[in-house]
Amino acid sequence: MIRVGIIGFGYWGPQIARNFQAADECRLAAICDNNPATHARISRAYPNVHMTCDSREIVISRDIDAVAVITPVWTHFELAKAALENGKHVFVEKPFTATVAQAEELIDLADRKNLQIMVDHTFLFTGAVKKIRELIDCGALGKLYYYDSTRINLGLFQHDVNVIWDLAPHDLSIMDHLIQSKPACMLATGQSHLNGHHDVAYITVYFDDNLIAHFNVNWLSPVKVRTTLLGGEKKMVVWNDLEADEKIKIYDKGVEIKSGQGVYDLLVSYRSGDMWAPKVEQTEALSNEVRYFINCIKKNEAPFNDGLAGLRVVKLLEAADRSLADGGAAVRI
Ligand SMILES: NC(=O)c1ccc[n+]([C@@H]2O[C@H](COP(=O)([O-])OP(=O)(O)OC[C@H]3O[C@@H](n4cnc5c(N)ncnc54)[C@H](O)[C@@H]3O)[C@@H](O)[C@H]2O)c1
Repeated sequence: MIRVGIIGFGYWGPQIARNFQAADECRLAAICDNNPATHARISRAYPNVHMTCDSREIVISRDIDAVAVITPVWTHFELAKAALENGKHVFVEKPFTATVAQAEELIDLADRKNLQIMVDHTFLFTGAVKKIRELIDCGALGKLYYYDSTRINLGLFQHDVNVIWDLAPHDLSIMDHLIQSKPACMLATGQSHLNGHHDVAYITVYFDDNLIAHFNVNWLSPVKVRTTLLGGEKKMVVWNDLEADEKIKIYDKGVEIKSGQGVYDLLVSYRSGDMWAPKVEQTEALSNEVRYFINCIKKNEAPFNDGLAGLRVVKLLEAADRSLADGGAAVRI
């Protein structure tokens, strides 16, 4: 039985608590939030779970094996470090840390203590991402040309981070999981309109093999859009995460150049075949993820969304900030 303590019961903490509470071979042992206004909610939802204001109580407790850090990003490092130093496995929200140096320090500490770090890259546990990964791995899409995602909505404005650090960790972690080649360089442009943080941003990532990725993240959109396109040589995928069914559509569409004799002899032919929507697993992603976390601890195995996966995303976020500060200049990764 793995005993879990949760730190942070704001917007996202209750989702994590519910899933740990429901997972087999796991016991939700304690919940901490340093804002007393959350305490009525905690005790109403979990009357038999120990509640505290003081994160120290959670990280030093002998009755806790793993700590979930569900607090704003600028607090992740100190809380996760204290938990690891006290021999606890950690489940840390995205983005893993506020800097690359912090991520590296936590990874090193966990290695020395033989403890697991899991970074909550929730989308990697969705049926949609699993299906797209299957399609890429079996070669159904062919060589990838581009990855293009739009994640826009009205708010929720964050006080401590810009829209890239808030929304893009989802897309960057999905890209990192789906695409095996490494990004070569990236650039980011954006604008801030209201609270001094960029609230509209566009990120472009270049790979060495002609693959290009683009991300549009925006807190000022009147409508919510969650759409990702992957263009391959053989097939193309449209993933609309807001669709209840048929989230993924695969298009047998493409372009072929028939003749290479000379620039004026090129014959461009367009293939426009069937479209189909494969069945996608519907289990709640967080439920899959927390069960996987418990299993990794029991088997003493590093999860695929470990500290290194979190670090790769933080490296891209830091590079995006450097590019933003330099007027959209390309930054090598
Ligand atoms: N994976 C996802 O899909 C997803 C979705 C939303 C948020 N998140 C992430 O979850 C984290 C929290 O986001 P949120 O929207 O729930 O924020 P929030 O501000 O709503 O909640 C954070 C809570 O943590 C508490 N807290 C802060 N510092 C603390 C400390 N030192 N000790 C104890 N309690 C402390 C606050 O009082 C607050 O109740 C962020 O890293 C965010 O990026 C992830």
